[in-house]
Amino acid sequence: MPSLVSVEEIRAAAGRLSGVAVRTPLLPFPGARPRLLIKAESLQLTGSFKLRGAYAAISALPRPARERGVVAHSSGNHAQAVAYAAALLGVPATVVVPHNAPAIKVAPARRLGARIVTTEPTLAARVAATQELISQHGYTLIPPFDDRAVIAGQGTIGLEIAADCPGADLIVVPVSGGGLISGVAAAITALCPGAKVIGVEPELAADARDSLRQGRQVAWPAGNTQRTIADALRVEQVGAVPLQHILRHVDDVVTVTEDEIRETVRRLAVEAHLVAEPGGAVAVAACLLRERDLPPAEARVAILSGGNIDPRLLAEILVERPALDPHKLGELCAPHSPTPRPEFCCSSPPPASSTSLVPAACCCSCSP
Ligand SMILES: Cc1ncc(COP(=O)(O)O)c(C=O)c1O
Repeated sequence: MPSLVSVEEIRAAAGRLSGVAVRTPLLPFPGARPRLLIKAESLQLTGSFKLRGAYAAISALPRPARERGVVAHSSGNHAQAVAYAAALLGVPATVVVPHNAPAIKVAPARRLGARIVTTEPTLAARVAATQELISQHGYTLIPPFDDRAVIAGQGTIGLEIAADCPGADLIVVPVSGGGLISGVAAAITALCPGAKVIGVEPELAADARDSLRQGRQVAWPAGNTQRTIADALRVEQVGAVPLQHILRHVDDVVTVTEDEIRETVRRLAVEAHLVAEPGGAVAVAACLLRERDLPPAEARVAILSGGNIDPRLLAEILVERPALDPHKLGELCAPHSPTPRPEFCCSSPPPASSTSLVPAACCCSCSP
């Protein structure tokens, strides 16, 4: 059984990412009750958190491996991140993507100089094509999630949440192959031991929920997971290393419907002014629309993991009528207290000298 990634490994990854990855803000979702902070990885370079793991892994490679080049398989965001990180480090990159990956994710990888290889949209096809490239060219694989260096890179999000909101008691995280939640949970368990970590998946791709319940890797058929609008979350099963982290550190995995994902993409744009892709929005969707499925909490953080959405899909979702019931509409229209208060990233305003509502390090009275 693989050992779990430690907070020291995550701190080492943070050192390598310093000056490369954006320190993304924790932004309050306006009007959300209980309070909800959004870790806006949609604002990360390349439009998703994936840059953290990709750069952490490639920058740790020895020189001969860098010279031979790297290869990655990906639903799109990891491809773009590997292409970006490899270009920064002067490493040749090839990325294997499903033929139905959104152009908005693949075109930037091509522009960054990566060679693109397309396959059938299954994990098995992606892995087979990648293995062939490795045996032909001696490339080093940069896995999308089942890898300690990648998990350590994604875990730097957890370090930042713990530093910016040390009193966070619920961290809600999108899950597909499980690299993101593994790293975040490893950091949060070490630094905010009382906090709960919850994963979120589309109802149409709930393999991580089943894996947590059964204590083993449970795969869903690709034909099922392909049905979700959340193209980033269609992987059929969590990785072996992520499974160990999920079993040890994750309290639960909950699901959201396709309508809830679309409504949340729309609300993030209209109410929080944040562009989210469907897979990036699932944790926020659970906090806004599935509170009954989450443990009670006072300082909730949801990771908005990516913003690479096809502009035509975003336009379609933006003009959809909100699928809200009349009671929820009342909640949205009426202020919760007679005197509406401005939103701060923690429960009391920053000191009078502060000029920003969202300082780089939260003015956190959410600390215990
Ligand atoms: C935007 C976005 N969110 C979440 C995930 C899930 O990450 P993981 O596969 O590490 O669970 C992905 C994976 O591609 C992604 O692109």
